Amino acid sequence: MNQAVELKKGIYRIGVNDRRTHLFENYWPLPKGVAYNSYVIVDEKVVVVDTVERSRMDDYLESLETTLNGKKVDYLIVNHMEPDHSGAIKALLCHYPDMTIVGNCKTFPMLENFYGIHHNLLEVKEGSTLDLGSRKLQFYMAPMLHWPETMVTYLPSEHILFSGDIFGAFGTLDGGIFDDQLDLDYLEEEISRYYSNIVGKYGVPAQTALKKLGTLPIDMICATHGPIWRSHIKDIIAKYDKWSRYETEEGVVIAFSSMYGHTENMADMIGRFLAEKGIRKIRIHDTSKTHPSYLINDIFRYKGVILGSCSYNGGIFPTMETLLSELEHIGVKNHYLAFFANKTWSGGALPRFTQFADKMKWEIVAPHADASGHPKNQDVEDCKAIAYAMAEKLKA
Ligand code: FEO
Repeated sequence: MNQAVELKKGIYRIGVNDRRTHLFENYWPLPKGVAYNSYVIVDEKVVVVDTVERSRMDDYLESLETTLNGKKVDYLIVNHMEPDHSGAIKALLCHYPDMTIVGNCKTFPMLENFYGIHHNLLEVKEGSTLDLGSRKLQFYMAPMLHWPETMVTYLPSEHILFSGDIFGAFGTLDGGIFDDQLDLDYLEEEISRYYSNIVGKYGVPAQTALKKLGTLPIDMICATHGPIWRSHIKDIIAKYDKWSRYETEEGVVIAFSSMYGHTENMADMIGRFLAEKGIRKIRIHDTSKTHPSYLINDIFRYKGVILGSCSYNGGIFPTMETLLSELEHIGVKNHYLAFFANKTWSGGALPRFTQFADKMKWEIVAPHADASGHPKNQDVEDCKAIAYAMAEKLKA
């Protein structure tokens, strides 16, 4: 059983670590697992804020019952309906049938559609409050962070923000619960990957939410995944601000698709030419090996993107197509771009790259390279021109 941790007097984190699930949302890799955090406030009324994923609900309910020691749950606040947090609602309702479910007008149709629950509902709006006895909760809408119904809950008496997915992270909580008890260097990529993969599409709503929440005094951020922030609040808010403004660093991601090595040769050549020009942060990825999760994360970080593909059945290679459509879907902004391609008898990759460039509106820094098989002298010169132009842009 996972033991509850008291965050402040009468306020608990009851969460579970999930080290078994390989793919979050059945898509994003979880090499370091993920934690689902639920919170409980014991006042004159007892409140649960969000639940956990259903595969872990037995552990969760046992911890909750132990923590409450015979008390009943009066309110369940549903900040976010995605089933990694709403998965235990039905089970909770079986244990506490008189419990009132608190959400907003966009929460309840989802609650009905997912679980057939449609009574004992209390609708809140922007700025609504809920009296618990000695404390009051306040509610703020945060649409699209990460679904349309998403809201956050604020506890003014303790300056605690129950933020839902916002400020969350992949990675289990290994021993520590708070940011100052955990190895944040170990979790760094899992924090940024969570943002870029899950929240990254919603930069504008993130900026809106940051402005709104920036007016509140906050001493603790209780997200539904990852560390509870109390010592590095400014850092995590600054990171979200930077990421949601699509601010990038000097560096280049070269992503290639190659069947027999010629396109990979071009990627390595471009990497060496970039290094000659003083670029140190160069990340070369094979799209057949590296999951888009990591490519997207590096692309959120570095300003330069150079994409290369062989042709395949008259089109672009399938794993490069996956990356392009992911980037188009997420709508990543603010990059320098160049392409290289390779073919055996006719082109295939270039028309798709051109379509991608038109859609993304990233600045193309140099004409593409287009080799046939083993790169020849002119192809080497074209790769050099791409690398030099990219380096010059980045250093400007
Ligand atoms: Fe952690 Fe959008 O759910």
